[in-house]
Amino acid sequence: MKIIGISGSLRSNSLSQAFLEFLLRGMEERGFLTSKADLKILNLPFYNPKEGEEELTLAAYKKMMEEADGLLIINPEYHGSISGALKNALDYLESSKMVGKVAALVSMLGGEAGGFSLEHLTTVARKLHLWVSPATLIIPKCETNIGKMGEPLTKELKDRVEIFLDKFEFGLKKLKG
Ligand SMILES: Cc1cc2nc3c(=O)[nH]c(=O)nc-3n(C[C@H](O)[C@H](O)[C@H](O)COP(=O)(O)O)c2cc1C
Repeated sequence: MKIIGISGSLRSNSLSQAFLEFLLRGMEERGFLTSKADLKILNLPFYNPKEGEEELTLAAYKKMMEEADGLLIINPEYHGSISGALKNALDYLESSKMVGKVAALVSMLGGEAGGFSLEHLTTVARKLHLWVSPATLIIPKCETNIGKMGEPLTKELKDRVEIFLDKFEFGLKKLKG
């Protein structure tokens, strides 16, 4: 089964990109094939489709997302919500082609609390007809909780990450296995 990871930060040395890679390695250890839709490389234009004029990178991005069994989506919380880059990338997807895929959702915060962005991301995922895994992650104060290689820095977070990946795996096997 194939998992595609996507993170909404285009920043160099992004912690959400690093954490995404850490989580994808965890899914590989569980036997899944993984790949990343890297929004910094894809550099998708703002959603403004023109009939018969789809760019190659855009077509490749959509194909990659449509062929996945599961999506691992990491949002850096921007002003209490989803980053523009991530929302734009998700807006290109068609719900009819997302049916039956499992989505595992994460929100990364610079601050202490909030997590409204996770609610917003959940709504978007459901509107896309994705099956949202019940285990989600909100990472507060990401600079003190996530290391440069994306690794969780506290025992409590490490345990939460294991549960998050276990539940994602469970959902994938139930729906797609
Ligand atoms: C435009 C912008 C808005 C942000 N708004 C919030 C916010 O509302 N709440 C919060 O906790 N952190 C906020 N942050 C901090 C980011 O959530 C944090 O830096 C991010 O999750 C880490 O992203 P990275 O992958 O770029 O390292 C904001 C950062 C930016 C750049």
